[in-house]
Amino acid sequence: MAEVQLQNLEKRYDNDAHAVRGVSFVAHDGEFVVLVGPSGCGKTTTLRMVAGLEEITSGDLFIDGERMNDREPKDRDVAMVFQNYALYPHMTVFENMAFPLKMRKVPKPEIKRQVEEAAKLLGIDRHLNKKPKELSGGERQRVAVGRAIVRRPKVFLFDEPLSNLDAALRTQMRAELKRIQRRLGATMLYVTHDQVEAMTMGDQIAVMNKGELEQFGTPSEIYERPGTAFVARFLGSPAMNLLSGGVMNDDGGSYFVSHEGTGTLRIPLAKSMEPQNVELGIRPEQTTISLGSASDKNETASGKLILIEPIGSVTHYYIDWPGAAGGTLVASASQLQRDALDGLKLGDSVTLGFPSDALHLFERESGKRIV
Ligand SMILES: Nc1ncnc2c1ncn2[C@@H]1O[C@H](COP(=O)(O)OP(=O)(O)OP(=O)(O)O)[C@@H](O)[C@H]1O
Ligand SMILES: [Mg+2]
Repeated sequence: MAEVQLQNLEKRYDNDAHAVRGVSFVAHDGEFVVLVGPSGCGKTTTLRMVAGLEEITSGDLFIDGERMNDREPKDRDVAMVFQNYALYPHMTVFENMAFPLKMRKVPKPEIKRQVEEAAKLLGIDRHLNKKPKELSGGERQRVAVGRAIVRRPKVFLFDEPLSNLDAALRTQMRAELKRIQRRLGATMLYVTHDQVEAMTMGDQIAVMNKGELEQFGTPSEIYERPGTAFVARFLGSPAMNLLSGGVMNDDGGSYFVSHEGTGTLRIPLAKSMEPQNVELGIRPEQTTISLGSASDKNETASGKLILIEPIGSVTHYYIDWPGAAGGTLVASASQLQRDALDGLKLGDSVTLGFPSDALHLFERESGKRIV
């Protein structure tokens, strides 16, 4: 049982790389907190500071209210699974998993029971007598996870533990890990690149960018009310449509106006707002799509389809739009909607629409959400 509190954590490496910049959040007792962000944003460094493997340059780390900055890793009661799952090559899978228990002088029958139970949960019980080099990458990762689980620490620190698994096994392990964490009541800090993992596993998500914490919140808060344009683009697949433009007022209403695409856009906003430079965001699944070109008052974007991505439950339709982030706008249609769009092919004209109640607005300069 443990609460982990990061308070203004900073990390400067000796080469002056400023890897972590003032990161603060609390993982409450038994909570599953997912750290996501692009490569190099400081996720591993943050985890290593919590584990005690990396010195904290400034700021404070508390576990259950006790300051941990100067505490040895072994005295923090945390178990870390590394990105590169360091296993002891000369030991068997069983010995690798048993190692932390052996160090604690747990009686042999008890070690056997716990290792076998964890191995079974993780689907590696057939491999207990093998050496790591005889295992696939995904199997090795699961051994590393198993070694952490048998320790029953107060805090788990997992750095991309499922990255080497195939899609099916990953989905299964995702559910399994979450179940194990719940059952042990352990607090979890979990790093992943995978947004589905972040959304499905996290009680809270910490989105990092360039060493800073961009947003901390529940999956639905992060998805439905992204605090910055970066978060808006980072979570969601395909990424949120993002258009550069300005807010203008006339006819007693506010409009988002952009001249940067293939045509001018003039999209009515739900509330009146001060004129300012903004980025307008809308999720692909909330963007409407219809056949042909529209000649309305510039409230929609018409263009030719450049990419159609059927991924099973939904299909994504992309049009070129130079003013948008990534140079495209995309609408996702569910199976039901798709029937009306059947037969659409590349080069056909479609019209994308932007319902006022689905729009997100961000300040252009700072990227911050405007309420
Ligand atoms: N030992 C080190 N010495 C100097 N700089 C480092 C060291 N470790 C990491 N860095 C730098 O710190 C920054 C953050 O690295 P970190 O490994 O924490 O990123 P990450 O978010 O885990 O990335 P990834 O998703 O690729 O694993 C990077 O710019 C990296 O180059
Ligand atoms: Mg990393």
